[in-house]
Amino acid sequence: MATLSTNRVPGETLGHGPGAPPDPRSPVLSLRDVRISDQADGREIVHGVSFTLTPGKVVGIVGESGSGKTITCRAALGILPAHFEVTGGSIEIHGTDIAELSPARWTALHGLTISAVFQDPASYLNPSIPVGAQVAEVVRVKKRLGRGAARRRAVELLRAVHLREADLVYGQYPHELSGGMLQRVLIAAAIAADPRILIADEATTALDVTVQAEILDLLADLRERTGMALVVVSHDLAVVAQLCDEVLVMRQGEVVEHGPTGRVLHAPRHEYTQLLIAEHERYGLEKFLDPKLDPKEEA
Ligand SMILES: Nc1ncnc2c1ncn2[C@@H]1O[C@H](COP(=O)(O)OP(=O)(O)OP(=O)(O)O)[C@@H](O)[C@H]1O
Ligand SMILES: [Mg+2]
Repeated sequence: MATLSTNRVPGETLGHGPGAPPDPRSPVLSLRDVRISDQADGREIVHGVSFTLTPGKVVGIVGESGSGKTITCRAALGILPAHFEVTGGSIEIHGTDIAELSPARWTALHGLTISAVFQDPASYLNPSIPVGAQVAEVVRVKKRLGRGAARRRAVELLRAVHLREADLVYGQYPHELSGGMLQRVLIAAAIAADPRILIADEATTALDVTVQAEILDLLADLRERTGMALVVVSHDLAVVAQLCDEVLVMRQGEVVEHGPTGRVLHAPRHEYTQLLIAEHERYGLEKFLDPKLDPKEEA
């Protein structure tokens, strides 16, 4: 049965293998000076991104449109668009350089370690299959459960993302659900195989403020309960302030600033970060900032 459409990412994951609980200090994802080029014209699009993600940690990526945030995420997921290539540096998942992964190995590993949620949930769901069956299919394939057990687990997952009347939602088609509900379904599919890393790329951008806040709480809760690590891409500094331990600021394929969220947002060093914050202050960023994070307050 075809479920999630072919451009899907949610639920696709890289495996970490069964067994030992994650070591809180050992990196689950690390990027070292990653460079990405468009092989069609030889243009380098991303000029060196580095960060390390350990269990339970949240790294944010902010920056102007076209600065390479999504391409960087896609590189880590092994799903770069055609003719894009990692041309420098390295990406490691659980200590394995992903350049060494064969397509078969990717497929075998998908389902357990890395997963993603993007904007525009409707485009990742098959319009002609009830949403619950699509989540159940991820569970069945990735967790190797039988149909009945996969169905029960899918309902649990729909409940876990705070969809009311999960049994009812299970049988509904994508067009019957609101954008916020669809985004929750996508998150349910993305966490169905208990990934260690979730990449949320503008996952709440299209949603209204209340729904956005609920989904951010949900992600924070998952991180807390399961030690899942997160990469959060957002143009919204308030989202970053609320969720992230550290933040990378990108402009034109370059990381212009990288540091603990409190330091970057309270004492930005790069003029582009200062500009971003000045723009955001007009929208009430202050209320999301925790004074405890302000290094100036420590003195
Ligand atoms: N599928 C693609 N085919 C060709 N070029 C692409 C593709 N996706 C991205 N690019 C190019 O790569 C560069 C980086 O794009 P990317 O999508 O990573 O930006 P972004 O920071 O995620 O922007 P936004 O905030 O608008 O989502 C841009 O110059 C963009 O035009
Ligand atoms: Mg993007």
